[in-house]
Amino acid sequence: MSKYLASRVGYFPESVIRLMSQLAAKYGAVNLAQGSPDFNPPSEVLEAAKQALDAGYNQYAIAWGSPRLRQALAERVRKYNNIEIDPETEVVVTCGTTEGMVASILSLVEPGEEVVVFEPFYENYVPDTLLAGGVPRFVELKPPSFAVDEEELKNAFTNKTKLVILNNPNNPSGKVFTYEELKLIRDLCVDYDVIAIVDEVYEYIVYDGLRHISLASLDGMFERTLTISGISKTYNATGWRVGWVIGEQALLEGVKKIHEFLTVGAPNPLQEAAATALSLPDEYYRWLVEQYDKRRMIMLRILEETGFKYYKPQAAYYVLADITGFGFEDDNAFAEFLVKDVGVAVVPGSSFYHDCWRKDMVRFQFARHLEILEEAGKRLARLSSLRGQASQRCGELAECRKP
Ligand SMILES: Cc1ncc(COP(=O)(O)O)c(C=O)c1O
Repeated sequence: MSKYLASRVGYFPESVIRLMSQLAAKYGAVNLAQGSPDFNPPSEVLEAAKQALDAGYNQYAIAWGSPRLRQALAERVRKYNNIEIDPETEVVVTCGTTEGMVASILSLVEPGEEVVVFEPFYENYVPDTLLAGGVPRFVELKPPSFAVDEEELKNAFTNKTKLVILNNPNNPSGKVFTYEELKLIRDLCVDYDVIAIVDEVYEYIVYDGLRHISLASLDGMFERTLTISGISKTYNATGWRVGWVIGEQALLEGVKKIHEFLTVGAPNPLQEAAATALSLPDEYYRWLVEQYDKRRMIMLRILEETGFKYYKPQAAYYVLADITGFGFEDDNAFAEFLVKDVGVAVVPGSSFYHDCWRKDMVRFQFARHLEILEEAGKRLARLSSLRGQASQRCGELAECRKP
């Protein structure tokens, strides 16, 4: 590390997910690592983006979001999330959920304050907390059910707790939090005067007739919750960088300020197109779930045929699979073997746990064209016969992952 870098850069390693995508490109592997789909946004949304460019939406938007997008968002969250917001004062449009999360944490956490984080977690939450000087307190959602352990959660709340971060539905487990679990979180937040930040970026991709419930819709929670989501996953637009944070005006004040100085605003023409996306009819959301459910079933079939034990996801487009039956030292060694020798890139499960303590799983993502998934299946079918070659070429991934 250069002597000029600030010490905070050393608090966390590089993103493992992006690293796996680089290895996928280097070794010509099918990329089932990074969580972006290989299909386009709906055609009417693409068209709206082109029209917005031509219509002159090419300068800064209002920093906290284009009026049309904020209005469309207020209508959507009233209808789907059971949350009433004032589009003038209770939303900040950000550069993706990612910016929304870091701006929210920076705006709320004082150095030394504790932040409860459920693990397995999406990789941003811990670096974001550390950048703010916060101290993460981890609560494991244990496979196979990934249910909240009431005692463990209660033990994680102390008089230093400032925040709890929830990812509902959860990446990587595909868990959808139940109403009872949300009520427990609500009660603890109220008892300890804690704020909740909820990342709901997979809110529409929920299977088996399950219902996603927004924590902010529970009694007493709107005033102590920042709800974050965006267009990346629901409308296949991860490259557009449009997301938002909603919450009570006073709680959002810090997010608004930090956002102005971090990025000024999200891309203006794409905010216009996002407003069109949010106004799509209900059948779009039904279609979206059907498309992903088809892929989920193919992915699970491939894993079964290849001899993996897996944890069936209730939501999102990932599946965690147990690798203990394959005889590898850990998940890094296994992921490296898969990307180099088998030709399929996945994410080592340890990247979703603090200090990488849990090393018995890898994550597959299935937001891919059907033929790509079938190609991954063909490659994975050779897994057993290729196993002998693995040990000679290990180490690249572990080397890159040093902080
Ligand atoms: C749980 C979760 N939150 C946030 C993001 C990033 O979202 P965005 O593209 O809106 O920044 C991802 C991307 O994979 C994710 O899985």
